[in-house]
Amino acid sequence: MKKLRLLLPLLIALAAAPATAQTSDTASAAAPVRNQAAREAFLDRLMQRMTVDEKIGQLRLVSVPAGANPDKPRLLADIRAGRAGAIFNTVTPHDIRVLQDAAMQSRLKIPLFFAYDVIHGQRTIFPIGMGLASTWNMDAIRQTGRISAIEASADGLDMTWSPMVDISRDPRWGRTSEGFGEDTYLTSRIGAALVRAYQGDDPAARGSIMAVVKHFAAYGAVEGGRDYNTVDMSPQRLFQDYLPPYKAAVDAGAAGVMIALNALNGVPATGDKWLLQDVLRKQWGFKGITISDHGAILEMIKHGVAADGRDASRLAITAGADMSMSDTMYGENLRPLLDSGRVRMADIDRATRDVLRVKYDLGLFQDAYRRIGSPQDDPPDINAESRLHRGAARSVARESLVLLKNQGDALPLKKQGTIAVIGPLAKSQRDIMGNWSAAGQADQAVSVFQGMANALGDRARLLYAKGANVIDDPEIVKYLNLYEQDVEVDPRTPAQLVDEAVATARQADVVVAVVGESQGMAHEASSRTDIVLPESQARLLRALKATGKPLVLVLMNGRPLSLVWESENADAMLETWFAGTEGGNAIADVLFGDYNPSGKLPMTFPRSVGQIPLYYNHLNTGRPFDPQNPDKYTSRYFDAPNGPLFPFGYGLSYTTFGVSDVTLSRTSMPRGGKVEASVTVTNTGTRDGATVVQLYIQDPVASISRPVKELKHFQKVLLKAGESRQVSFTIDEKDLSFYNAQLQYGAEPGLFNVYIGLDSQDVKRGSFTLR
Ligand code: NOJ
Repeated sequence: MKKLRLLLPLLIALAAAPATAQTSDTASAAAPVRNQAAREAFLDRLMQRMTVDEKIGQLRLVSVPAGANPDKPRLLADIRAGRAGAIFNTVTPHDIRVLQDAAMQSRLKIPLFFAYDVIHGQRTIFPIGMGLASTWNMDAIRQTGRISAIEASADGLDMTWSPMVDISRDPRWGRTSEGFGEDTYLTSRIGAALVRAYQGDDPAARGSIMAVVKHFAAYGAVEGGRDYNTVDMSPQRLFQDYLPPYKAAVDAGAAGVMIALNALNGVPATGDKWLLQDVLRKQWGFKGITISDHGAILEMIKHGVAADGRDASRLAITAGADMSMSDTMYGENLRPLLDSGRVRMADIDRATRDVLRVKYDLGLFQDAYRRIGSPQDDPPDINAESRLHRGAARSVARESLVLLKNQGDALPLKKQGTIAVIGPLAKSQRDIMGNWSAAGQADQAVSVFQGMANALGDRARLLYAKGANVIDDPEIVKYLNLYEQDVEVDPRTPAQLVDEAVATARQADVVVAVVGESQGMAHEASSRTDIVLPESQARLLRALKATGKPLVLVLMNGRPLSLVWESENADAMLETWFAGTEGGNAIADVLFGDYNPSGKLPMTFPRSVGQIPLYYNHLNTGRPFDPQNPDKYTSRYFDAPNGPLFPFGYGLSYTTFGVSDVTLSRTSMPRGGKVEASVTVTNTGTRDGATVVQLYIQDPVASISRPVKELKHFQKVLLKAGESRQVSFTIDEKDLSFYNAQLQYGAEPGLFNVYIGLDSQDVKRGSFTLR
């Protein structure tokens, strides 16, 4: 591997084009600072006045959580002495002001910047990443980013640790919930759109915050889906599938990059000079700050590449990790490392300058309080309703819901009769917000039960029973509740809970079971070895099924689940992820047909955990399994089908759509040319509805084996009942390009297949050749 790593920079230098998914969202970077020369001259002057210790202080990123803090006096003294560069986890203008006041008492009055995990909203919580991706609607996603920035900036924040663009093909990994799924192109589009939305035209503007894309690189590929585990992958896969989303975010102007906790091919990313300098800075031209993840510098000791904290600090700073998050490593070690000649002043200067440049671009040298404001402007009630954006939250949440099954038109429900709402998540306000819910308040979130009650008024009778605890295993409950209260346990026995639910179901015309995962089950440090519903809930569903009542499942979960029994036994299934503050209202909109669902899966749903990794853009192998002609010595399992339960890109509607054959503007494309591919999409049902038309490309004969198909374009279209529309896509050479065995990027001449359809399996084919 070492040999390959040595070879890689050379190969990459030879590469014809960088790893990127060029899209309208990535085409131009966010507006640059108007006068870069003036900025650099300012930074020169400032740096000349700074002592070494003040420079090192700028590299320290300190976590200051809300609540009683016995260390506050020491922290404030540190800030006054210039020993902190930035703060995260402090989230109100009032609390932030106290810290900035201390910075203004420091010798050089260098302002702090303030960051937070604003991942899917700050006060208004939008659907989690998987939900946002399920909308396939860039305008909607942009809107969530803009509102997040406006709310975060109104809370005094300057920066968010988002977007998280780690591609994942492994639903065992709890952090799949935060990302945008398995696809490189979709994730790249979303990452770039969010960066632009957060930063706006000018990151210095009040109402804009800076974006820090994470986790660089390939954190989503941790082995076995076990968090923080090792990542090992071929350079082709890395450059083709895993790096482009980070690159797209960088191209869109992301101010920062957070470094992944994992090792990549044996080298912890925090100490990976090749990654942080050769790829990020030299190849991609990144000019912002790099930030180590929580405690990651120190963790290089446990990774086995540093002898002690000093060694780890040396590795990190020389590799190019500018700021150290939440550890004391840089503060303690950089000075002695410098004095002993093991670290060069140039390394410290470079990192310091990156930090100061960000502060300059944020406008903090002009006005350190530009987002914090004055005390008289502090909101009298930080959690006031008026500070939320409920309308946008509801409309994005509705679009994030994916209808997985709807047998016999079980949905939409009629607003009449008696409806039993059952399940441990039905009344949960905390879970519906999902993990990383920033400053969101659970008591402001709308549960599924409440949303349904709001929709019904007194038109129908709504019954409720909890039916089960989210999970019964006390050890797991203990684990989930370790750092925050996640699972609330009903002390009744499982049998008592089920009995009550069955009795409730018997009184109803239809049962809506709200089941899945608690928010903490799909989070950082929440990896699972199985991805089924916990037995407590599976047992409940079996009992509800036995009542013979129509059974509608509302699924709340952060990762694809294996839902074989459920898909065979439920009448309808609605995947709702964690839909945010307005989740309950949005879910009710879909359940009662006030909104026609249009979400599509951004990640394959396997039948069983044993199929993982299961992803749509796999290679064909030399012995592909053919279900039409099943044979033994093919690439298959003998105890289960090969394919997914629900494929990537899949999602139903209350109407139906037809897609015509593919027409191509030409069948032979010259180098540098374009081909237009079109289909006519018809709403063949009786309701207006939206769907996502997806275009995939396959290069069936190339110098290396290429995926059976890869998403290259998509369009979300809204069609009235009976309406037809031509949907066209322009294919160019970049859509055909890939990294070959020598890591050269480009398209190879020959035949290409174009697949267009409404999910990754249900497609029509056309083909053309590249000359
Ligand atoms: C660790 C997580 O990996 C990262 O995503 C997050 O931004 C930081 N902690 C800060 O909370």
